Amino acid sequence: KRRIGVLTSGGDAPGMNGAVRAVVRMAIHNGCEAFAIYEGYDGLVKGGDMIKEMRWEDVRGFLSEGGTLIGTARCMEFMERAGRTKAAKNMILNGIDALVVCGGDGSLTGADKFRSEWPELLQDLVDTKELTADQIVPFKHLNIVGLVGSIDNDLSMTDATIGCYTSLTRICEAVDSVDTTASSHQRAFVVEVMGRHCGWLALMAGVATGADFIFIPENPPDSDWEEQMCRTIKKHRAKGKRKTIVIVAEGAIDENNNKIPCGMVKDILSKKAGLDTRITTLGHVQRGGTPCAYDRMLSTLQGVEAVKAVIEATPETPSPVICIVENKIVRRSLVEAVAQTQEVAKAIGEKDFNTAMKLRDAEFTE
Ligand code: F6P
Repeated sequence: KRRIGVLTSGGDAPGMNGAVRAVVRMAIHNGCEAFAIYEGYDGLVKGGDMIKEMRWEDVRGFLSEGGTLIGTARCMEFMERAGRTKAAKNMILNGIDALVVCGGDGSLTGADKFRSEWPELLQDLVDTKELTADQIVPFKHLNIVGLVGSIDNDLSMTDATIGCYTSLTRICEAVDSVDTTASSHQRAFVVEVMGRHCGWLALMAGVATGADFIFIPENPPDSDWEEQMCRTIKKHRAKGKRKTIVIVAEGAIDENNNKIPCGMVKDILSKKAGLDTRITTLGHVQRGGTPCAYDRMLSTLQGVEAVKAVIEATPETPSPVICIVENKIVRRSLVEAVAQTQEVAKAIGEKDFNTAMKLRDAEFTE
């Protein structure tokens, strides 16, 4: 009888609750026991009442709730080996031998590190007499399964992360609202959207709202972008458009790797294009609220697959991350997905944008 722990880690994302619900119920359905670990890795390090067994009815209503009801944190202690040793002890004290982690690439990297160090951590616990040799015998292998929960859609090897479509919907709704006031006053708006180093939210929001100009980290504009932007906008205005929307990803950079600040874009629109311009920073509104249908579906299917992966795991199976590729729920190597995601960041840092775009697109990895 497997005892499966589930935690959410890093920035919350709409749909995380659906993932927790699916893991808990699929585990129970398969005769396993399910445990929620509260406040992400913090809960694993602290143990005690931060780790609770979950019954079927404990996750009732989770599917339509935003954020994460079991809490999340960016845990510094788990980044140190001492913190991971405490976490290992708490897992064993609770009899948990498999962990489903729903979070972004940082959280998944932490999970895999935990798995690779597992035998050493257990040995440390025996050497320091915190646990006896007998206690660790049933826990030779730790199964880790990753679920990608992040609004940024920045993990390679998957087409969508849990939360990204809700966030995109929220951005579109916000831009639609800005549109009406912009149009009334014939104003321009510079809208900053989240995404960290990834431009997916900005790009897709731009497409979905018919924005006039978009800035994303993966495709920095040419050195004459100020003129290009003003030319494009004037062309749109000449066709009778009463409003201007420029979407700036928070990680947008110019060709010299310098951040493109919204204030700078605003000044150019005001001074060079002669438009009355305002800035709207959407902030955490983009991360909040009830998950859209797609994220409820994705988190449920992936949570189910995560438990299947735990049940089918052998000591030789590498840790999987549950992905969606061309509408199919698939398992990929967690280590490879994280490594590829980090290569994208490196390629962007080195201004090798072609490589970055290729690595980010799941199709290229097939
Ligand atoms: O990774 C999700 C995200 O919302 C990013 O888009 C953003 O850069 C970051 O988290 C904000 O982090 P915090 O909530 O800690 O301010």
